[in-house]
Amino acid sequence: MKVIHLPVMLREVIMLLKPMFGGVYVDATVGLGGHAEEILRHIGHGRLLGIDRDEETLDMAMKRIPDNRLTLKKGKFSDISKLAAETGISEADGVSFDLGTSMFHLKTAERGFSFFSEEPLDMRMDREQEITAAYIVNKYPEKEISRILWEYGEEKLSRKIARAVIDYRGKKKIDTCAELSDIVYRVYKKRGKHYPATKTFQALRIAVNDELNELRKGLNEAPGILKSGGRLCVISYHSLEDRIVKNFIRDEQRQGVLRILTKKPIAPSDEEVRFNPSARSAKLRGAEKI
Ligand SMILES: C[S@@+](CC[C@H](N)C(=O)[O-])C[C@H]1O[C@@H](n2cnc3c(N)ncnc32)[C@H](O)[C@@H]1O
Repeated sequence: MKVIHLPVMLREVIMLLKPMFGGVYVDATVGLGGHAEEILRHIGHGRLLGIDRDEETLDMAMKRIPDNRLTLKKGKFSDISKLAAETGISEADGVSFDLGTSMFHLKTAERGFSFFSEEPLDMRMDREQEITAAYIVNKYPEKEISRILWEYGEEKLSRKIARAVIDYRGKKKIDTCAELSDIVYRVYKKRGKHYPATKTFQALRIAVNDELNELRKGLNEAPGILKSGGRLCVISYHSLEDRIVKNFIRDEQRQGVLRILTKKPIAPSDEEVRFNPSARSAKLRGAEKI
């Protein structure tokens, strides 16, 4: 399958990260390597470590960018210091995060992220992990499902959807993405601006991959591997993530660890959103190590 890869806010990331000749960089979410490729163009004989928790994505990145300045490592960015140390990097000139899933995940039906797919409801970024979205909707108690939908999806109908999930699974196990979409659709009864299952799918994806805890841990680790003057860039895609990033950078500034570079988050240009609508919710924030 060919996935057209459009790295989000590429120009803005490069302007903020300022990759320099001979520098050492860590791309904590290398994905298919769109940002990585551009960083490599700026660093001459420098080095880049690319981390991703998804093995399949890393294989594709490796084929796309054969470059001996690039080291690719499978792992979670909550382990960024350990992964950097294993690669011989104790201090970096820049660390970047581009959160969430990649186009590759969303467009590959069998990864179980898309509403209409008849494939198993999976949503794991790391396929070695045990818990899938199907496990959550079939095994978790009603209250916990409702909490996940409310907290991670800000879904107003969280209780009703959780009830519908419990009713459905009493008769039949929920196996596919399309089955879950249909359950949510029937609770909503009509289509709004977004597809009714959008928030439910976001919430489950966050829960399956423990995304918010990962983000908190990854951010906490990042300043520890930055040189003084080194830069941190983070692209987030929804308000829960952006709030964590904003508060983290603000607190680190108060403690004299980081200096904020973006008073307000940078948004993608209208032109980029027109060309790549999935960039529309992106927010980029940056900070410099003091
Ligand atoms: C939006 S994509 C990155 C796209 C990349 N910047 C590019 O230009 O190709 C996010 C990637 O981060 C990975 N990812 C998400 N959470 C992660 C985590 N906690 N640790 C490591 N990788 C993670 C996903 O598997 C996915 O490939």
